[in-house]
Amino acid sequence: MNINFTYLPGDGIGPEIGEAALKVLNAVATKFDHTLEIEEHHLGGIAIDVKGTPLPAETLASAQKTEAILLGAVGGPKWDHLEGVDRPELGGLLPLRKTLQLYANVRPAKPQSSLIEASPIKAAYLEDVDFVIMRELTGGIYFGDKGRDENGAYDECRYSEAEVERIAIRAFEMARTRKNKVTSVDKSNVLETSRLWREVVIRVHQDYQDVELEHTLVDAMAMHMLSRGKDFDVILTENMFGDILTDEAAMLCGSMGVIPSASLGNGRLGNGRLGMYEPIHGSAPDIAGQGKANPIAMILSATWMLRTSFGLEAEAIAMETAVTAALDARQTTADIGGTLSTLEVGEWVAAHIT
Ligand code: IPM
Ligand code: MG
Repeated sequence: MNINFTYLPGDGIGPEIGEAALKVLNAVATKFDHTLEIEEHHLGGIAIDVKGTPLPAETLASAQKTEAILLGAVGGPKWDHLEGVDRPELGGLLPLRKTLQLYANVRPAKPQSSLIEASPIKAAYLEDVDFVIMRELTGGIYFGDKGRDENGAYDECRYSEAEVERIAIRAFEMARTRKNKVTSVDKSNVLETSRLWREVVIRVHQDYQDVELEHTLVDAMAMHMLSRGKDFDVILTENMFGDILTDEAAMLCGSMGVIPSASLGNGRLGNGRLGMYEPIHGSAPDIAGQGKANPIAMILSATWMLRTSFGLEAEAIAMETAVTAALDARQTTADIGGTLSTLEVGEWVAAHIT
C-alpha cells in the first residue's frame, strides 16, 4: 500500500532522530512491499527562520489532508526571546494539535527489561509497571486566555463538559483493551475545573461499570507513580498535569529518549485514524547536531503511526522486535549505555527488520 504521511522534523535533534526513523521505515516498506510517500514540511523554529511563521500555511494544509503526521520536536533557545504566538510551541505545535482536534494524547510507561539499569528508580519498583497516560491535549491552561496586566501575568484554565467527556470515553475504552482500570488524576480539592473533571468522569463511568475507576489528586499521583507504578493501567488527566506526569513516567523507563506518543482525535472522514506521532521528549538543543540523540522514541512513534493510522500490525511488530533487539544488544546511544550514534542506531534497527 501507499503509506502517505506528513513529516515534520522540526528543531534541535528533530531532524536527526527523524532521519534514523526514516531509515527504519524504509526498511519496513521494502520488506513488506509498501511505498512511502512522505510530505516534508517545516514546523516551529525552523519554520520561523525559513517561512517567517511557526505554522506555515502549507504545513497546516498538508497536515489537514493526511492520515498521519510524524513529528520530531519544536523549540529552542534561538526562539526563546519571542512572545506568545510568535513562539514555536504556542504558534506552531499547539495550534496544530488544536486545529486537527487531536485531543487524546497517549503515552506509555512499560519499562523494558534491558533498560531497568538505566532507570534511576530501584528495580523492585519497576517490576510489572505497565500503564498508559491518557493526557487531554487541546484544552485547559495551555489554551486559556493568557497575558499580562499592570499587576502581573495570568493563564486561564477552562474545561467544558464536552472536552472532559470525550477524553474520559477514550480512557475507559482503552482500559477495556488493557487491564480494565482507570485512575483519574485531578486537583479537585482546589480547582473548579478539577471538580467538573471528576463529576464528568463519574458520569461517563456509568456506561463503563465493568471498568474499575479511582480518583487521585495530582500531587499524590506524582508519588504513587514512583512508589507503586504497577497498580496503574490507564491514567486519565488534564493537559498540564499530563505534561508533567509523562516526563516523570519516562524515568521509570530509563530515559525520555525511548517513549513515543500518539495524539488522536475522532479521525477524518469517519475512518477514525488521523493521528500525530511524536516522541515525548523535546528538541534537546544542547546535544543537537552531535549524533548523540536517542532515536528510539522517534522510531517507536513511527511504529505507532503504522499500527494506528495505517492498521499495519505485522509491520509494527517487526519494528518493535528490532528495537527490543537493539536494546538487548546495547546497540544504542550513550544515554542508555551504548556507543552508537543516532543514525547508527537507526541503521542497526533497519538492518534487523525481519
Ligand atoms: C510535550 C511538550 C510540549 C507540551 C511543549 C513542547 C509545548 O512538552 O509534548 O510534552 O508541553 O505539550
Ligand atoms: Mg512535555
